[in-house]
Amino acid sequence: MTLQDLDLDVYLTPEDLAAGLRTDARTGLSASPKWLPPKYFYDARGSELFEEITRLPEYYPTRAERSILAERAPAIARITGAKTLIELGSGSSEKTRLLLDALREHGTLGSFTPLDVSESALRHALDDLHRDYPDLHLHGIVADFVNHLEVLPETGTRLVAFLGGTIGNFTPAERAPFLSALRDRLAPGEFLLLGADLVKSPAVLIPAYADAAGVTAEFNRNVLRVLNRELGATFDPSRFAHVALWDEANEWIEMRLRSAVPQTVRLEALDLDITFGRGEELRTEVSAKFRRDGLTAELAAAGFAVRDWWTDREDRFALTLAAAV
Ligand code: SAH
Ligand code: AVI
Repeated sequence: MTLQDLDLDVYLTPEDLAAGLRTDARTGLSASPKWLPPKYFYDARGSELFEEITRLPEYYPTRAERSILAERAPAIARITGAKTLIELGSGSSEKTRLLLDALREHGTLGSFTPLDVSESALRHALDDLHRDYPDLHLHGIVADFVNHLEVLPETGTRLVAFLGGTIGNFTPAERAPFLSALRDRLAPGEFLLLGADLVKSPAVLIPAYADAAGVTAEFNRNVLRVLNRELGATFDPSRFAHVALWDEANEWIEMRLRSAVPQTVRLEALDLDITFGRGEELRTEVSAKFRRDGLTAELAAAGFAVRDWWTDREDRFALTLAAAV
């Protein structure tokens, strides 16, 4: 099977993404302080850089979540009896194989639907999955999980996996409507499997977002390359320093890009010039960290009842199985 033959529905074309970027860049770069939404990190290069991050010694979330999945996937298969596995922000779907294996072993799995904004990441994942799971019905969706939840498959007892701690890349104000909208797509008794990174010492958190090899810095600066390519912008990434700080009050990591010099950047497609003072920062991502009580309450407010809360041995990361009520 070639890449073209894959069952892939595109609800978000490169043109749609570029149109969204035009609106978001105009709003975010004209604001004070400046900000950009994190979904624009993930062009082909950004998706590759994220995969590189997951292998860094400092970046514990992927390994911690994988260890939980390795231990709990058989129980997840037994409890959910899922026929249809859906994964939001699926990326490489590499850890998800543990769920696929367990659901297959349990005898219920009928289809797998990964959904991601990154068409390149999704195509790679589907190609690899098709090779390794030739009998599984695979149906990829290129879409935005904020705007396109209505395109999720409606059939089979569904389990929606949202892994990696990506829930933390929403602000709390964005999280609540997202969880409610997701709940509204499910029938009572269907499940959400949610990966969430936990609050811990900044001595562990900061290096995870400011690794010694500088991969996260490249990932962060990649959004400037996306702006240059998509909007004819004139960012010189080397003139922006990578910043990762722990916001104690909000209990999130914040990634920023700090202008090393006073500079003006042209965004040709927007007919817009943006000035940066020396040291002025642009917020590119928040990565919220969670506590059990808080996340359980947020899920309850959205109409999910937490059935299980599993953590890794070092209590760094939690995997929550929650039922739609
Ligand atoms: N779930 C994987 C990947 C996490 S990286 C893991 O646990 O390793 C976050 C993923 O979410 C990326 O693949 C990115 O392309 C995707 N993503 C980010 N914002 C998105 C959005 N608004 N809609 C759909 N996918 C999004
Ligand atoms: C995808 N998301 C959960 C990652 C995180 O940890 O917030 C993105 C990331 N940003 C920097 N490193 C990784």
